[in-house]
Amino acid sequence: MKYNENIAACIAEVAEVAGYLWQKGWAERNGGNISYNITPFVDDMLAGCGLLYGPVALPRPFENLSENYFLVTGTGRRMRYVASSPMDNMSIIRILDGGRAYGIVAEKAIVPTSELPSHLSVHSYLAGRGDGYMAVIHTHPIELVAMTHHREFLEKDVLSRLLWSMIPETRAFCPKGVGIVPYRLPGSLALADATIACLDQYDVVLWEKHGALAVGENVVEAFDMIDTLSKSAQIYISGCAMGFIPEGMSDAQMQELKQAFNL
Ligand code: 13P
Ligand code: ZN
Repeated sequence: MKYNENIAACIAEVAEVAGYLWQKGWAERNGGNISYNITPFVDDMLAGCGLLYGPVALPRPFENLSENYFLVTGTGRRMRYVASSPMDNMSIIRILDGGRAYGIVAEKAIVPTSELPSHLSVHSYLAGRGDGYMAVIHTHPIELVAMTHHREFLEKDVLSRLLWSMIPETRAFCPKGVGIVPYRLPGSLALADATIACLDQYDVVLWEKHGALAVGENVVEAFDMIDTLSKSAQIYISGCAMGFIPEGMSDAQMQELKQAFNL
């Protein structure tokens, strides 16, 4: 299919980031999923596409997403193949029926991720916020997930402070830190609700014993935040592997960064 320049760029960006997720070792089998709100780029060609699949009822209505269009990775699809053959592993869906259903309009009938309730809940929340955040990534970053197995790290902002203190970049590029979503069944509305409750405060949330979800203006920004936090987690774990608990930057050093970079 011949997409316009903007949509082609979004597809290429999802493919690029899917490749990173695989290279990082965060995307075992079909682990992880990506969605991108491409509504501003929809042209007559896409608007004229009939349904290849659906309508499929959504688990709850998303009124403010009515007639929106999303690029969404398919359920059971491998990130490594999203990278090499994007439109064989994701589809474009349109939200129908006042937000009560979706249909696949392009390019093949690739059924969206099982985490669609979380992705659409987050997009609905972001659309309400109106700050131009269009991308949602969910992935399984090894060290960050490992850290959610430690009860102490699940306390509010304990992990944010620890990860910020490992390297100045994390404090600078993830100024909101990371939120914690207690364990909920994958794909559930309970997981979706707990996630959006966290997004008032954070751009990245960790799903306890499961993965990370990040939002951003675009897919690369969302990926970079998880990648930066993951670097901090790796530094922490490297110290532990060498037999010591990393000291971390002091509060004064972090405060100095906050002021210097206007965080
Ligand atoms: P999907 O293959 O349905 O996208 O599920 C992968 C996943 O990571 C579920 O949390
Ligand atoms: Zn997952």
